[in-house]
Amino acid sequence: MTGSHDFGVAKELALVEARIRESIVSEEPLLHDIASYVIEAGGKRIRPTVTLLAFQALGGHDTSQAIDLAAALEMIHSATLIHDDINDGGEMRRGRPAAYRKFGLQNALVTGDFLFAKAFGIGGKFDSDIVELTAQACAALAEGEIRQQRHAYDTDLTRDECLDIILRKTALPMMAGAKIAGLIAGARLEDVDAVGDYGLNLGIAFQIVDDILDVVGDAIVLGKRPGTDLREGNVTLVAIHALNDGSRIDVPALARLIRKRRKQEAEVQKGLALLRDSGAVEKARREALTYAQIARKALDPIPDSEAKANMDRLVDYVLSRDA
Ligand code: IPE
Ligand code: IPE
Ligand code: MG
Ligand code: MG
Repeated sequence: MTGSHDFGVAKELALVEARIRESIVSEEPLLHDIASYVIEAGGKRIRPTVTLLAFQALGGHDTSQAIDLAAALEMIHSATLIHDDINDGGEMRRGRPAAYRKFGLQNALVTGDFLFAKAFGIGGKFDSDIVELTAQACAALAEGEIRQQRHAYDTDLTRDECLDIILRKTALPMMAGAKIAGLIAGARLEDVDAVGDYGLNLGIAFQIVDDILDVVGDAIVLGKRPGTDLREGNVTLVAIHALNDGSRIDVPALARLIRKRRKQEAEVQKGLALLRDSGAVEKARREALTYAQIARKALDPIPDSEAKANMDRLVDYVLSRDA
């Protein structure tokens, strides 16, 4: 999200990076090496961007606090990506082989825990309501991942169940990041809730777009391997639409492919083609747009500012991104 995607917080983001770098030092070089491997690979930094913008939009002054919390949240996020790739069999992450593939599963697992611990070392210094929100977001994330696993290869997964997973694994953590920013900015409760609604709905749109990109995205641009959801039986909103309105495709064939445990690569490609031909991607895009509009609208009560305008631009970015 560098270069052409500047949301007015480049300077603060650089400080977030520095904060993360100094936090992941360990007497055990391997922990530091693996953590750096994941962090230095980049990533869009959308979560710290949301936190920093919400903080500015709500008139926060002590930027160092916002930077600390943004760093902690990005470290938690990076930890979950390390764990998520183990769960999902994700092969590439941020343009590199997933950490567990390069360093081994056990080392990667422990590094995820290490990042969580270091993040709480930073976040734990704040008031209990902030620590509580962060802990709730982490718990929601874990619940989302477990629910997703439980429903792996489940072609009966409903849209509501799918949205519940999205809510937990992506949207609630983004909401927490925005609300935390409002709390440390000393904003009124209504305004904290407003940026929270923004984060929540932006997060839903963001995850729907992620699921779309798994079907239509490019591996090099994405930095991760498309088709992973299908390969691993992760039934996304795109798949649900295709399964439930397959007037254009052979739905039983798609269902069989989704349910199949060990797919040949040709079968994955066939499944992706069915998903693309089904019209489900367009439907999911419309849904992402709806949530994006709710996110935008949530900011109405907040006074106009440059940060608020950038939050609006961030919504456009989430919808139009290809990485
Ligand atoms: C990946 O998050 C996990 C999802 C919630 C889709 P990002 O797409 O934000 O990953 P990075 O941080 O940019 O690599
Ligand atoms: C993201 O879901 C879950 C997390 C928040 C870690 P995905 O499983 O879709 O994320 P990617 O596609 O692997 O980045
Ligand atoms: Mg994954
Ligand atoms: Mg994904």
